[in-house]
Amino acid sequence: MTSEAGAEAEPAQTDHRLGFLSLERELPAVDLPVEGSFPAWLSGSLIRVGPAKFEVGTHRYRHWFDGLAMLHRFSFSAGTVSYRNRFVDSPAYRAARDTGRIAYSEFATDPCRSMFRRFVTVFRTPVNGRNTNVNVDRFGDEFLAMSETPLPVMFDPQTLSTLGVGEPAPGQLTVAHPHRLPGSTELISYATHLSAATHYQLYGRAVGDTHQRMIATLPAPRPSYMHSFAVADHFAVLVEFPLVTVPMTIPLSGRPFIENYRWRPERGTRFLVVDLETGRFEGGYRTEPFFAFHHINAFARDGDLVIDVCAYDNADIVRALYLDRLRAEDARVPEATPRRYVLPAGGGEVRTERLGELTMELPRIDYDRRNGRPYRFVYGVGSREPGDFPNQLVKTDVERRESAAWSRPGTYPGEPVFVRTPGDEREDGGVLLSIVLDPSAGTSFLLVLDAAELTEVARAWVPHRIPFGLHGQHFPAVSAPND
Ligand SMILES: [Fe+2]
Repeated sequence: MTSEAGAEAEPAQTDHRLGFLSLERELPAVDLPVEGSFPAWLSGSLIRVGPAKFEVGTHRYRHWFDGLAMLHRFSFSAGTVSYRNRFVDSPAYRAARDTGRIAYSEFATDPCRSMFRRFVTVFRTPVNGRNTNVNVDRFGDEFLAMSETPLPVMFDPQTLSTLGVGEPAPGQLTVAHPHRLPGSTELISYATHLSAATHYQLYGRAVGDTHQRMIATLPAPRPSYMHSFAVADHFAVLVEFPLVTVPMTIPLSGRPFIENYRWRPERGTRFLVVDLETGRFEGGYRTEPFFAFHHINAFARDGDLVIDVCAYDNADIVRALYLDRLRAEDARVPEATPRRYVLPAGGGEVRTERLGELTMELPRIDYDRRNGRPYRFVYGVGSREPGDFPNQLVKTDVERRESAAWSRPGTYPGEPVFVRTPGDEREDGGVLLSIVLDPSAGTSFLLVLDAAELTEVARAWVPHRIPFGLHGQHFPAVSAPND
């Protein structure tokens, strides 16, 4: 169930569609020309991952989330910037390179294997293409690239070479957005274990531990597609959107993974709260149907739990991200709004509030200090006008409910990663790092914005355009290599 590559005209290279074309070139570390001044204190590396190759031989991946994973690294030293990029050397990538075919199932692309093979793949063996194109993280000395399949890939942050696989998640599906609470090394995540008794398995592992800690098991006969989850103080919150599947039908459906999920608004959305210390299920709350990929943050307030998300009214966004739609001249992508859900202590009706006037996706906060705690500022991408492809960076003050934006006509910024200025105690005392596509220049640049003022500090031009990626992290200890 791949698409045949045809004689379709390449998109005009003057708009966002340039960000959905494949990038084949891998560069060794190169120094980048800089406009403005990169802060002298900015060191370490920004490492990002995203889909970069959307065709294999005569076949095409169908969805943005299917593309073959590529790592990009920007390293900073005394005001200079170097860049390197490399494909993740995964089974999916090797099969594509060596055989010219799509050999593994992805989010919305399926190589049409036999029913038996599908069954074995989905329910028994965590064999997968390890096309880890969603997010990166660090666990002790391991640098991990992750997707929603259970095996993360370890890579060398200096060379970006693929080293092997990390510890598998306890299920067939997981998330590429694990959590870490301030002051703790434990990486907390959840997996969906598909079986006749399908359940969500919350688990964690701290650096130095030899085994995963199984925190809680929650029955899920109709599991939801959940791209992320939240932690609030010492609670985990799974937000079960009504985009659900019937697990036992997946192997026989003949459909790619995500097309086994259906929007069932009559179910509403359910918040499942688990105490991370005891594993106790604290209860469920139900509210109106909505969908989200990303949580902004969550925290406890006077016994209530506050859950902030980038919310859509329904799951149409999943379909809007098929490549044929994204590459259409009149592509319209549904917009998310920053929304707050308050779960009252002891039960009761969930309260909903809009946090800001501007649309927002790919939200980031001062994670190391604020995750799971009260906070004030969130940064993300949004649209200047309704219907625009995301074309501005947005900052929202969730206390004052005020928003500000940065944009330059004709450019398309990606996820802004917050890096704190050493010694600056303000929550927004730092910079935002975002890869911006500039179609008129036919290339991308790394933008540095002052996070407090949302003004441009500097930019570094990359020798090629970088396809729109998903997520990245700043790693202070990954120094600029000498390669
Ligand atoms: Fe994500």
